[in-house]
Amino acid sequence: MPVTAEKGFDVEKLRSDFPLLQTAMNGKPIAFLDSAASSQKPSAVLEAMDTYYREKHANVHRGVYQLSQDATAAYEKARELVREFINAPSSHEVIFVRGCTEGINLVAATFGRRFLDADSEVLISAMEHHSNIVPWQMACEDKGAKLKVIPINDEGELLMDEFERLLTDKVKIVALTHVSNTLGTVNPIHEVVEKAHAKGIPVLVDGAQAIPHMQVDVQELDVDFYAFSGHKMFGPTGIGVLFGKEKWLNALPPYQGGGEMIETVTFEKTTYNELPHKFEAGTPDIAGAIGLGAAIEYIQSIGYENIHAYEMDLLHYATRQLQQVEGIRFIGTARDKASVISFLVEGFHPYDLGTILDKLGIAVRTGHHCTQPLMERFCIPGTVRASLAFYNNRTDIDRLVEGVKRAVAMLR
Ligand code: ALA
Repeated sequence: MPVTAEKGFDVEKLRSDFPLLQTAMNGKPIAFLDSAASSQKPSAVLEAMDTYYREKHANVHRGVYQLSQDATAAYEKARELVREFINAPSSHEVIFVRGCTEGINLVAATFGRRFLDADSEVLISAMEHHSNIVPWQMACEDKGAKLKVIPINDEGELLMDEFERLLTDKVKIVALTHVSNTLGTVNPIHEVVEKAHAKGIPVLVDGAQAIPHMQVDVQELDVDFYAFSGHKMFGPTGIGVLFGKEKWLNALPPYQGGGEMIETVTFEKTTYNELPHKFEAGTPDIAGAIGLGAAIEYIQSIGYENIHAYEMDLLHYATRQLQQVEGIRFIGTARDKASVISFLVEGFHPYDLGTILDKLGIAVRTGHHCTQPLMERFCIPGTVRASLAFYNNRTDIDRLVEGVKRAVAMLR
């Protein structure tokens, strides 16, 4: 098989690490092509969480007894793994949250409270997921601020000259996705950060769809905030990360109140704990953090260079094969793309195509993909989206193409 990744990369061996990929859907071996919605989990992640619950569970940061100390050490080790993974300068800049959505909500709510007013603007893009639109809309509504949108071209790329025009002194923050969940577009984060910082404007990046595919170095990108979810990077649901530069995290008020985020509490006044605890009210998802740590180690054992090379090969193969389908139209044809393919087939509503594929054991996402304004931009109701991970193989792609062709043949 012409895989351009290193010789050590063996997709069939990797597939055997994922129990769910060995299962069936509608009586057919599953072809799982919906990793952008949520990825599957390797045994290493499942086992790390199972062992934790069976042998090591106690609450963290709250007990003098050994078991609690051990649980705390395991939870904090996971934070350190995340720090190294994204090259954050310090582990107290790594906040555990429920997922990327919560990370963005945390920043939008607290940044909004502290820094937005009726003269302010927040700049996002036309390809944002609802989770990087609605929290900012809510923050803007609270303060009477305006939400501005960077437009995109027909390929699904940011219009950088429009970005520069919109980057006025009124803009208090730029919030942008690294990789579009619907189009696959990889945005030029370096350039955006450089231009925003030249005007003293911070940048938040939604990294949910980037982190499963590429090495992210928050210092190299120089981002002020970077949020991502564990479940899209082969870890568990319910855990995610918000990286924030210390100066910003210190400048923001707490998001939620409760245990652990305090230093002292009286009925008159509360003082707050230091980072990262200031933003981690309540008992955290300890098993989730441990599972995320195991997912990081798993990704590192494969290597992002291998992942990238393999996925690009598969993306090009899938695109070439799908091009043969009569009446197909790709949505999202940016020059720099991650392994996401959105398409429409003439005569089919995406939902109907998705339903036919489901019967054939092929899992794709259909609909607006939580990007309704983007669908409006392309004047379409939705798309069929196949999103690939390193555990997909050419058989998955061949079955998808065959399934779509069968559907087309039924209609004609
Ligand atoms: N954001 C996820 C997706 O794109 C759920 O499918």
